[in-house]
Amino acid sequence: MKTPKMSEIQMRQMVMPGDTNKHGTIFGGTIMSWIDIAAAMCAERHCNNPVVTVHVDDIHFISPIKVGHHVFIRASINYVGNTSMIVGVKVQGENPYTGKVYNTTKAYLTFVALDEYGKPMNVPSLKLETDDDKRRYENALKRKEAKKNLDQTLELND
Ligand SMILES: CC(C)(COP(=O)(O)OP(=O)(O)OC[C@H]1O[C@@H](n2cnc3c(N)ncnc32)[C@H](O)[C@@H]1OP(=O)(O)O)[C@@H](O)C(=O)NCCC(=O)NCCS
Repeated sequence: MKTPKMSEIQMRQMVMPGDTNKHGTIFGGTIMSWIDIAAAMCAERHCNNPVVTVHVDDIHFISPIKVGHHVFIRASINYVGNTSMIVGVKVQGENPYTGKVYNTTKAYLTFVALDEYGKPMNVPSLKLETDDDKRRYENALKRKEAKKNLDQTLELND
């Protein structure tokens, strides 16, 4: 059993001109790539094996990050199944000259652990330690249930 704390990832970047879109703020594809990398590292730390992204469950761009601002990315395991892990990622921007920190992006991604033959393999179960761990786990369960219902509805209507 492992706690979310044991595999948590904290990553910092700075938005350089090459990372931006035509509005002078961070390009969505760049932030999505950083999110995927941070989340994959977190999942690998949990299962100590290679992982692949199987689903991006949700991504919400809350506010833009300006060129020159710092980016703080935190990823932690929210839920584990048999071979899959749901990782929640929170991204904050920071103005380095004023110290002001603001929420910018939130995402949830599902990874699958792979064995030496590239087949899904079981992962350690999750020990929920803190109130935040429990809240994130409950929310992940609700999102899984909602996704299952939506998948069934869409299939019925296809
Ligand atoms: C990941 C992969 C090996 C899973 O293979 P699979 O035959 O679907 O395996 P399974 O059906 O046994 O599912 C494995 C787990 O993934 C979960 N899963 C599969 N598809 C999913 C989806 N769309 N959303 C959420 N979870 C999913 C299953 O629920 C299962 O979880 P559990 O073991 O915890 O119950 C395969 O889909 C794959 O190789 N995908 C491509 C991955 C990739 O290239 N990613 C981009 C680069 S990293």
